[in-house]
Amino acid sequence: MKARSDLMGDQEIVRLHHPVAVIDALAKNRTALTVALRPIQAGAFSSVDAFDEVTDPGDPALVVVGPSLLRPEDFDRIGRLLRSRPEVRAVMVVDQLAADVLKQAIRAGVSDVVQQADLDPELLDAILRADQVLLSVEPPQVVNDEPEARVGQVTTVFSPKGGSGKSVVATNLAVALAERCSGPVVLLDADLQFGDDAVMLHMHPRHTISDVVESIDRMDLHQLKSMLAVHEPSGLLLLAAPVDPAMAERVTAADVGVILNLLRSFAAHIVVDTPSVFNDVVISLLDRSDDIVVVGGLDIPTIKNVKVGLQTLGMLEIPQNRIRLVLNRANSKVKLDVEEIERTLQLRAEALIPSDILVPTSVNRGIPAVLDAPRSGVARSLGQLAGVILAGTRREGRAA
Ligand SMILES: Nc1ncnc2c1ncn2[C@@H]1O[C@H](COP(=O)(O)OP(=O)(O)OP(=O)(O)O)[C@@H](O)[C@H]1O
Ligand SMILES: [Mg+2]
Repeated sequence: MKARSDLMGDQEIVRLHHPVAVIDALAKNRTALTVALRPIQAGAFSSVDAFDEVTDPGDPALVVVGPSLLRPEDFDRIGRLLRSRPEVRAVMVVDQLAADVLKQAIRAGVSDVVQQADLDPELLDAILRADQVLLSVEPPQVVNDEPEARVGQVTTVFSPKGGSGKSVVATNLAVALAERCSGPVVLLDADLQFGDDAVMLHMHPRHTISDVVESIDRMDLHQLKSMLAVHEPSGLLLLAAPVDPAMAERVTAADVGVILNLLRSFAAHIVVDTPSVFNDVVISLLDRSDDIVVVGGLDIPTIKNVKVGLQTLGMLEIPQNRIRLVLNRANSKVKLDVEEIERTLQLRAEALIPSDILVPTSVNRGIPAVLDAPRSGVARSLGQLAGVILAGTRREGRAA
């Protein structure tokens, strides 16, 4: 069987049997390699760990390892990847074809080595060869009636009151789940105009939900995974909000539904951050959530808005047992009493987050409180919330 080659516009697209990923620590190398592989449209990762994290074991793939990964520890990591995932084949790009580099590449199990100077067309040829070899060694596909085994648990963080602490809760909850959970955890920033989860996690994602929506008709799991950014300290995956607020209008409720379904098919948990409005996108997210964390506070305007918000959720026929009340800045002596609020809202608070200077400090440093100060009251209450969400998973027997 030969790889297909189609003409799209004036650019020739080579269709391989397996996805291709470029791995290099340096952005300029990743760009050079993806340009050399233009006809294939390869994804790009900054480390072997990031590739391993985002792709599913068992899914065949071809990787191009760039010239910045030539240290002994890089060869070790590549070797471990290729041993643990025999369905992955690697081609390496090096500056100089030195004997010791070749020896280490062979030991690591790399299929082919190409010199940087010969990228065009040797790299593409090497990938085409690896694609054919992988095809011939692949076991026959087992037919499975259920296309995706995992059904990730969706937790949407919402509040009818802006500035109540939704993003602080969403980022910390997502990181806490990523730390406690063996399966992938994804944070979806659905505050499409002013989402700042990437900033709060000190991340600089290459893609945002706008990029996903631009090719939503052709979006598949592999492509979506390649657009998630990895939060290195916790392993959390992020689909960031658009950089340009004007892009928010282009994201529809249907798009978000497609994205959520794809995320649920591979992630154990998906945490969704939202804006404080009931628009189509937010309603569709709330409707599809297993848990809705409603963030309130101890002041009367917030409680009034939360009360109205809960009534709206009722009108939307969202079952009340999905709602988890969290009270933020809950230690203020000048404000209302927690029990009084619970009576007013007819809900028990599942976590009380104290007001603490450490929150704005950790936001400004881009290190969530659960990592920055794990023993603090703020981190402990957010950890408790993660425990409630995880207990829900166990209660319903879902994959964790
Ligand atoms: N428990 C807390 N103690 C001290 N400061 C807090 C606490 N919770 C949140 N803050 C601060 O309040 C501000 C608003 O928090 P956050 O951005 O999480 O709210 P939000 O609900 O996401 O806001 P928006 O509606 O604008 O999206 C942040 O600057 C944050 O540092
Ligand atoms: Mg926010």
